[in-house]
Amino acid sequence: MHISSPGKRTITSIRPVFDREKPKMYIETYGCQMNVNDSEVVAAIMQKAGYAVTKDIGEANLILVNTCSVRDNAEQRIWGRLEYFRQEKKKRPDVSVGVIGCMAERLKESLLENNIVDIVIGPDAYRDLPKLVEKTESGQKGINVLLSREETYSDISPVRLDKTGVTAFISIMRGCNNVCAFCVVPYTRGGERSRNPETVIRELKELSANGYKEVTLLGQNVDSYSWDSVYFADLLAMVAEAAPDMRVRFSTSHPKDMTDNVLKIMAKYDNICNCIHLPVQSGSTAILQKMNRKYTREEYLLRIETIRKIIPDCAISTDIIAGFCGETQKDHEDTLSLMKEAGYDFAYMFKYSERPNTRAARQFRDDVPEEIKIKRLTEIIDLQSELSLTSHKKDLDSIVEVLVEDISKRSENDLCGRTSQNKMVIFPKENCNIGDLVKIKITDCTQATLKGILI
Ligand code: SAH
Ligand code: SF4
Ligand code: F3S
Repeated sequence: MHISSPGKRTITSIRPVFDREKPKMYIETYGCQMNVNDSEVVAAIMQKAGYAVTKDIGEANLILVNTCSVRDNAEQRIWGRLEYFRQEKKKRPDVSVGVIGCMAERLKESLLENNIVDIVIGPDAYRDLPKLVEKTESGQKGINVLLSREETYSDISPVRLDKTGVTAFISIMRGCNNVCAFCVVPYTRGGERSRNPETVIRELKELSANGYKEVTLLGQNVDSYSWDSVYFADLLAMVAEAAPDMRVRFSTSHPKDMTDNVLKIMAKYDNICNCIHLPVQSGSTAILQKMNRKYTREEYLLRIETIRKIIPDCAISTDIIAGFCGETQKDHEDTLSLMKEAGYDFAYMFKYSERPNTRAARQFRDDVPEEIKIKRLTEIIDLQSELSLTSHKKDLDSIVEVLVEDISKRSENDLCGRTSQNKMVIFPKENCNIGDLVKIKITDCTQATLKGILI
């Protein structure tokens, strides 16, 4: 899985370990890629504590849900799941349920005020999980939502829960020091801290030794990575050199912080994929200022121009919020026109959702009516569909390099994988295997995928 929509549900699991002695944990993951990687860290911590991971909730002694708070609907989905876990507990009263991650951090003790949740644990306290689980065995509830200035879990090798073993995430930093007015992340994940680059390289080499073919370096704002005199561009070069046979991706870049050095390193190393996720949020300078994004429309477009100059075939994707506080029709039109100017290959698009205690919630009124938010979001989505189709049409008749990731969801006879530009390609299987890097001639496309044949 690549750039995942925050709030989207991903069930992560590995094959059950056939050891009847061991207690079993089941983990369900919501939210961003960082959460997917955190669940793998949690799995490693619990395996060390004697647990086996199961994908069958019905046989689990411990049910964990790794949560997201980024928008209200992400939290509502989790409340729905908790009701389901209540049923599970009715059937088997000795099962423990833990809420972990961003919602645990945001809602703290209040999550324990029901007879479903036994454990609440925030993103920086996962090492405490075995102790808290033990506590629940004697009927108590357990909570640890302390945030840390140092925790990066850098000594823990995540247990890769992805079944195909081709792509993996490495978190290179945690937390965020920005205060984008709409965003809850700095409150749920705490201050920014970078991880020792040596431990990043160690984890990368483990992945390579285990046959992984692609790594995505993760951080809320990778461009502010810093460890002694190693900055993000340096780390990227170190990673590209340490695993020359692996593809390298990264996410997320902040327009105010992305340097030309990063672009030059991308251009220098063939194994760094030509694709940048550069969330714009809005095309209106007035709204960007209220959002505290610290760049103007013009500065953002200049970044795009520089990217295109240094890496001509770079795909660019973005995040957009429709209907932020005070957004006028003109501001919205500025977003649409910026999208066209940027010519995005892909976008995640959201309706603004006020989050309690954020700067926007404290300072501004959430005053764009729901029906206008929906109308604007629909226009944004429709425009992006056109832009994505235009981007895909450009690839027709060309030959692209694809890393085969999985069997196609639609047909067992097809495989799917991604180009360097992160475009999904579907093609007939023939003699290819998952994990192969293959050349595909593009013969057809939709706005969502490219279709092709092996050459
Ligand atoms: N660190 C990343 C984004 C993290 S959250 C960055 O700086 O871009 C992922 C995306 O969720 C954001 O880019 C934003 O588009 C969206 N988002 C965050 N808070 C939101 C809110 N309150 N309402 C709607 N969308 C939101
Ligand atoms: Fe949130 Fe802004 Fe930090 Fe991204 S950079 S996580 S949007 S505060
Ligand atoms: Fe959600 Fe937390 Fe990620 S709020 S988007 S899971 S950092």
